[in-house]
Amino acid sequence: MKLPRHIAIIMDGNGRWASKRNLPRVAGHKIGADSVRAVIKACLEKEIEILTLFAFSTENWERPKEEVNYLIGHLFIRALEDEIDELHKNGIQLLVIGDIQRLDAKLRQKILDAEKLTANNSKLKLVIALSYSGRWDITQAVRSLCFEIETGKISAEDITDKMVHDHICLHDLPEPDLLIRTSGEQRISNFMLWQLAYTELYFTDTLWPDFRKKALFEALDVYEGRCRRFGKC
Ligand code: IPE
Ligand code: IPE
Ligand code: MG
Repeated sequence: MKLPRHIAIIMDGNGRWASKRNLPRVAGHKIGADSVRAVIKACLEKEIEILTLFAFSTENWERPKEEVNYLIGHLFIRALEDEIDELHKNGIQLLVIGDIQRLDAKLRQKILDAEKLTANNSKLKLVIALSYSGRWDITQAVRSLCFEIETGKISAEDITDKMVHDHICLHDLPEPDLLIRTSGEQRISNFMLWQLAYTELYFTDTLWPDFRKKALFEALDVYEGRCRRFGKC
């Protein structure tokens, strides 16, 4: 089977999953966390190298305070505290990308500790995009390139595609081969704008809390039938 090395997922539809059941939106996020566990397990089973999950976007900071607090201050912290040992035991390396300066110092420290603990694991790289957006990513890359110009390390006319690439998050990993978005929306919503240039896109109506192993394997079947050309004939 031709498998993607790197799968990226826009985990969408938690709120609608809850509304359909007359539950508060946070109930959808809670069950959505079970889908995260199921998908990680399925990726381990298929020996996928990298799984990147869009957990919270720059724009999601605009949501009601209670929802933001639940997602970051409750679900994410709890998962980090309760499940890091299990991830470590399973040989998973945890990486977080995004503007983590916006998180409180205690949480930032927990993230750094978790990344350090799992740094040498090689079964699966689990990347959590948190307080992340594609435009933020490109902006921070531009900022560090400008800094290199200012300090005389490089000159503007030397800048190449490769140099920009080398400042973008996850530059040292293969780019996503497959992007999955759940919930029927067919948009990128400011996810990895640079990295998705040649990624295969897969959209499904399944809401994220219902997206489990079977749904992932269906996406892998569709991926297998895709013909990737990268601009060549
Ligand atoms: C995805 O589900 C989770 C996050 C964006 C954090 P939503 O909360 O966007 O759910 P819908 O799209 O409103 O159904
Ligand atoms: C994208 O979903 C962000 C995450 C899944 C974290 P949104 O629900 O925020 O995106 P829009 O608003 O439908 O474009
Ligand atoms: Mg949504």
